[in-house]
Amino acid sequence: MRGRSRAQLVQAGDGNYYVVKSPGNPQGTESLINDMIAMTIFKSLSIGCPRVTTVEVDAPMSGVYESVPLYLAAGVHFGSAVAVDPIEQSIYDFLPAPVLARVWNLDSFTGALIADRWMANIDTPQAVFHFTQTSGRDSAGIPTRILVALHIDRGEILGKKWRFKEAPTAGVYIDHGVYVRVRSWADIAPWIGQIEKIGPAAISKAIKAIPEAWLREVSRNALDAALEQLERRIHIIPDLMRSLIASPNSPFRRWRETDPTAMTPSQLDDST
Ligand SMILES: Nc1ncnc2c1ncn2[C@@H]1O[C@H](COP(=O)(O)OP(=O)(O)OP(=O)(O)O)[C@@H](O)[C@H]1O
Ligand SMILES: [Mg+2]
Repeated sequence: MRGRSRAQLVQAGDGNYYVVKSPGNPQGTESLINDMIAMTIFKSLSIGCPRVTTVEVDAPMSGVYESVPLYLAAGVHFGSAVAVDPIEQSIYDFLPAPVLARVWNLDSFTGALIADRWMANIDTPQAVFHFTQTSGRDSAGIPTRILVALHIDRGEILGKKWRFKEAPTAGVYIDHGVYVRVRSWADIAPWIGQIEKIGPAAISKAIKAIPEAWLREVSRNALDAALEQLERRIHIIPDLMRSLIASPNSPFRRWRETDPTAMTPSQLDDST
């Protein structure tokens, strides 16, 4: 697969395909823990993402597939489930703008952006896309399909190695067209409210998903400190969003409202 972790596509014993990343990969075991935490949090927030799990390998496996050498050491690996059969169906890393605009769960990019700023993701966020069949039919009687985005690869949250950094446009997807429906705080506030409501429980759930084998390879103290900081950061999400909105690189092309919480009472009267 593409990417710095040297991920590999594997069909596991359950018959499903997984993109597998290994402990000790060039991005560090921290990246697996970060990805597991972020995917668990995304799931809690109903932000489309793959099912993630551990993939256990009993004995080292090696081989060559279409001239690509494959190797998996014995141990516990990170598995990101591939939503469709990758041999039969296409999965896209990028979509041209007019096709991207048709993505069924386009609003999930706004949720992911807010969660990424909260989680201090310092990487450019990634998503993969696939078509899925619906029960509907078009006017010609042909079954209709929708295009679904799944948000992946959050190996660099919590400031990558658990040393938080703030970047002015952190968490922003490469094509700003995904935020076309974001016009005011009313489009952002529900996501922030959801994180404030379920954030602490989502963090606890995420911790439980991390296998002991990975924790042995990292600094447990640094991870605990990072997760405590993550919980405290729930309260600064509105500020993190304000700084993005105010920045010259704001991705919200159609933003048309002043932050109501930043307005004086007389400005509020004028705007009503
Ligand atoms: N669940 C998934 N379904 C389909 N494809 C996936 C999935 N997870 C990852 N991929 C594919 O595998 C590639 C590598 O995965 P990922 O981006 O997580 O690895 P990485 O090495 O950490 O990447 P990076 O160098 O961007 O940090 C992705 O670019 C994507 O093409
Ligand atoms: Mg990647």
